[in-house]
Amino acid sequence: MTGLKTRIIKLLRGRHNSVRYRFYILPREWLIYLFCFRLIGRSWLEFYAWRMNRSAEQSGHKPVPDGYVDDARGHFEFLKAKGLLPHHHILDYGCGFMRTGVFLVPYLNDKHYVGVDISGQRLKSAAELARARNLQDGSYKLIELSSCRLDELDGHQFDYIWAGSVIHHMPEPDIRIFLSNLKRLISGDSQFFFTFTPAEEGRYERRRIKDFYYPVDEMRKICESEGYQFEFADGWEQLGRSDHAVRLVLADGIVNGK
Ligand SMILES: C[S@@+](CC[C@H](N)C(=O)[O-])C[C@H]1O[C@@H](n2cnc3c(N)ncnc32)[C@H](O)[C@@H]1O
Repeated sequence: MTGLKTRIIKLLRGRHNSVRYRFYILPREWLIYLFCFRLIGRSWLEFYAWRMNRSAEQSGHKPVPDGYVDDARGHFEFLKAKGLLPHHHILDYGCGFMRTGVFLVPYLNDKHYVGVDISGQRLKSAAELARARNLQDGSYKLIELSSCRLDELDGHQFDYIWAGSVIHHMPEPDIRIFLSNLKRLISGDSQFFFTFTPAEEGRYERRRIKDFYYPVDEMRKICESEGYQFEFADGWEQLGRSDHAVRLVLADGIVNGK
């Protein structure tokens, strides 16, 4: 009997974590997205920012677990292995709780770290984490973004851009808007590293509501058609990660977005 019950639950759960998630939480999220956002002309980004803000508020801005923060030391080591030096300027795109930032900020010159996110509440938690880790106020910048056009970053120039576990929360049009606008904030020597889990079986898949899986060829095409050279960056999997890291640089001939 228990075996049969387990099989039925497994069948009902499908690829999801729980039956409740599949038949209650997920449909509810889709309904909120479609009726409270899309139908009235609000974007995916606005929905996702709302979702992140709500989750931060619901958790009461609980301190970020040490283990989760310490796991980001690998991001920092990876970027250093890719040539990041203290005088470089880095953009941490979708910085979340700033767990990569807490390692980057003490290493970099003052104000050379800029963390951006669409969720103001996450940035509030980030500032709290920075205080808990004794980072000096004013030695880093946190900026809330209102769109993928990066208007809030006008006037900045970056040598490195890092996006850890962010791009797969973005639909293709948003990735394109972001990549296109990033060009005005970088130079021919700048490097952009992002992590990426390619779609299984080689076809685009949207899993849950917030996870967009692109096949490698499709992601490469998006990046190349926006004016970047695309290559996988070595050294990431050696950190025991199951996803991949990609390195983008401006394609030959494109300088300052032109
Ligand atoms: C899975 S978390 C990763 C956070 C952080 N990079 C890390 O490694 O801990 C994804 C973060 O990206 C942010 N995000 C999602 N879409 C974004 C977008 N289009 N622009 C900027 N940030 C975004 C989310 O608000 C969230 O904080």
